Amino acid sequence: LPDTEVIIASNREPYIHNRDGDVISVQRPASGLVSALEPVVRATGGTWVAHGSGSADRETVDANDRVLVPPGKPAYRLRRVWISDEEQDGYYYGLSNEGLWPLCHLAYVRPIFRESDWQAYVAINQRFADAIVREATRPDPVILVQDYHFALLPKMVREQLPKATILTFWHIPWPNAEAFGICPWKEEIIAGLLGSTVLGFHTQAYCNNFFDTVDRFIESRIDREHRSVVHAGHETMVRPYPISIEWPPAALAGQKPVDECRRVVRERYGLPADMRIGIGIERFDYTKGILDRLMAVDELLIRHPEWKGRFTFIQIAAPTRSKLASYVNLQQEAQRITEEINARHGSDGYQPIHLVIRHHEPEDVYELFRAADLCVVSSLHDGMNLVAKEFVAARDDERGVLVLSRFAGASSELSEALIINPYDVHGMATAIDRGLSMSEDEQRERIRLMRNHIRERNVYRWAGQILIDASRIRKRLKVNE
Ligand code: G6P
Repeated sequence: LPDTEVIIASNREPYIHNRDGDVISVQRPASGLVSALEPVVRATGGTWVAHGSGSADRETVDANDRVLVPPGKPAYRLRRVWISDEEQDGYYYGLSNEGLWPLCHLAYVRPIFRESDWQAYVAINQRFADAIVREATRPDPVILVQDYHFALLPKMVREQLPKATILTFWHIPWPNAEAFGICPWKEEIIAGLLGSTVLGFHTQAYCNNFFDTVDRFIESRIDREHRSVVHAGHETMVRPYPISIEWPPAALAGQKPVDECRRVVRERYGLPADMRIGIGIERFDYTKGILDRLMAVDELLIRHPEWKGRFTFIQIAAPTRSKLASYVNLQQEAQRITEEINARHGSDGYQPIHLVIRHHEPEDVYELFRAADLCVVSSLHDGMNLVAKEFVAARDDERGVLVLSRFAGASSELSEALIINPYDVHGMATAIDRGLSMSEDEQRERIRLMRNHIRERNVYRWAGQILIDASRIRKRLKVNE
């Protein structure tokens, strides 16, 4: 898109400045969304509008709340939007994460809808819309709206910038119409999203669910063949764009050889040289199936005691949304189950599960991926899941086994993984055993196919495809003007 202005909006900011005494440090958040989008925006340049959430965020921006990033290597402008704690409780913890997150993920956690959360959600969407309009220097910018925090933003921006090209991407699943129908503000949410020029989901199945939901709840004309919806005189294209990772991943540069990563990780966890390692890494979220995975390790050691003393599972979980009871309970439950399993199967010097609850920077995550024999992604429901793709990308030695949930969007692309149903603990244990016993040749064959797929369908291609569709529409609209 030559000669265009790119503005992106997401809740989570790509760089968080934090103050610790006299020192200000920069952190990269644990978010699939940010890790996918950041390399794209580094390439396009422009402005990224996001919530300023760090303790030193206010002292690192200029008078217009802007800061150039990445630090030391500026490629684009980060424009921070401020949100009070009370607003954050309603907009982020409340409507976004107690309402829409469980509503769309169907992980059997009951969504909570409070009128006051909705009011905060509307107000913050309006604040972001106003910030975008203020940042825009032309009447027709390309605006990339990210995720379920901003369902109303497309319509709000369209009202002020009717010529904008608004490309909205929904990073989580879209459930079936009946499930979505329990949301008290379903009409407003759908109409808000239909302010977009293009609305993207990870898979065709989510697009179909969206069409069904529109059909059921609001006045519109749906054209399934051309994959578009006309509502209130405006047309929105609805398309699948499976998100991906940058290739080669920046975090892979400078990594030590695989043997060396293995040695470092074994030393860190006090593991003997012949110990096989399984790894799970994610935000500590109930959609990720972490408890089921720990129970599968238990089941493995019960049914295949030959792995006792020979297999360790390292579970890294970054604390997230820790204000919410559903997240706190999950952490406590995971700790309890881990202790139980370690007591049941552990012995002097052997600890079956290492549960590490803290944030890891991308370079450390890649080191762990490279040290592992096997990676387990057991999401109960997941839009895409980039951990699966990152594990595969980290293994330039073409070794390692991926065990992957069929309920993660990634499973429709990475079919050479060992595909499991995370609700079936017995089946998951069998897959772990199978993975640990897999020949090197088979590992190589499987991972090579998956690497080829991700190399080709990387995140630049994801963004490129959305931008190509947008540019077609821009041309068509210009011709019709
Ligand atoms: C994951 C999901 C995104 C979501 C992000 C939010 O990456 O895939 O859809 O935006 O988590 O996490 P946060 O920590 O910002 O609530």
